[in-house]
Amino acid sequence: MHAHLVLLPGDGIGPEVTRAAVEVIKTAGSGFGLTFSFEEHKMGGCSYDAFGTPVTDETITACKNAHAVFLGAVGGYQWDSLPHHLKPEAALLRLRSELGLYTNIRPAKIYPALISSSSLKEEVLQGVDFVVLRELTGGIYFGKPREYSTDYGLNTMVYTRPEVERIARMAFTIARQRNLKVTSVDKANVLEVSQFWRNVVHEVHTEYSDVELHDMYVDNAAMQIVRNPRQFDVILTSNLFGDILSDIAGMITGSLGMLPSASLGSEHALYEPVHGSAPDIAGKNMANPLAAISSAAMLFTHTLKMQEAGYLIEEAVASVLAEGYRTADIHCEGCKLVTTTEMTGQVIRILNSLLVQKHVANVV
Ligand code: IPM
Ligand code: MN
Repeated sequence: MHAHLVLLPGDGIGPEVTRAAVEVIKTAGSGFGLTFSFEEHKMGGCSYDAFGTPVTDETITACKNAHAVFLGAVGGYQWDSLPHHLKPEAALLRLRSELGLYTNIRPAKIYPALISSSSLKEEVLQGVDFVVLRELTGGIYFGKPREYSTDYGLNTMVYTRPEVERIARMAFTIARQRNLKVTSVDKANVLEVSQFWRNVVHEVHTEYSDVELHDMYVDNAAMQIVRNPRQFDVILTSNLFGDILSDIAGMITGSLGMLPSASLGSEHALYEPVHGSAPDIAGKNMANPLAAISSAAMLFTHTLKMQEAGYLIEEAVASVLAEGYRTADIHCEGCKLVTTTEMTGQVIRILNSLLVQKHVANVV
């Protein structure tokens, strides 16, 4: 089998962590008899500098023609004052919209070795394993009208029935592969758009009566994620609420540097680490590549349907942490401080040995 991937390394630490992911993708692929071709494009601030736009039509077309897209990170101080439509962030929103990536999956999983580096207590974190499923192509991020002047600012939070139905189906489907529980998060006590969301989610739920469904207001959900995160399995929510809740959930793992994500549509897929471009440490070989590497694991699971490969990559990440290797962002006393490339090398070493074990097991 062969897969064609578009790489969008982007800005800041994006290129460094993308290189790490590519190495891991090649290693895991070769272990499973899979070959890859890679095509690299500029996106974000670097695209603005080169072409005057944060994403070109050529880049969008290339992404549409690939099996999947891997994105490093976009953004940086020097582009912050550009008008909205030229900011690096605008490129990301356009890409999500044009590729129809309506589902964003951000897992919040505990690595036992990292429990002590979280700001939450160990007893709160023990056994936490949930995903935030964020609607990604609708809601207030894309609603019209949208404008501002010196006198007022205006955005529109709107959801249509098909938009809510498809993300709700996705949530129940994913819950069936997990622990059969969906918590739909909204603000139905205040917002009409949320009441509509809640009604539609409940209608869809009638097709999935084996899955437990709970509703929760977003303010309460923010509190519950830090109070008792074990209660969650799949958190289903809208674009804006998901943006906020997934950052809160991110801290559960100890560092945003650990969080992977998948953005999926019916035809296309994009994988990216959740952390930003971290311009202050860019080019210093200091960045944590593990979120990018875990995003590569999600690529194997979701796009290539090679769950075992995804699982082995995840296991390699967990083992490297258990052996005490740490980049600066998650460094702890008595741990081995390593660079981006060293960390990647350690993951590859363990992944290779896991692949050999798998091969031996298959032969025997
Ligand atoms: C994220 C980011 C983006 C978002 C920004 C960079 C547009 O915060 O992926 O969570 O708000 O969706
Ligand atoms: Mn965000």
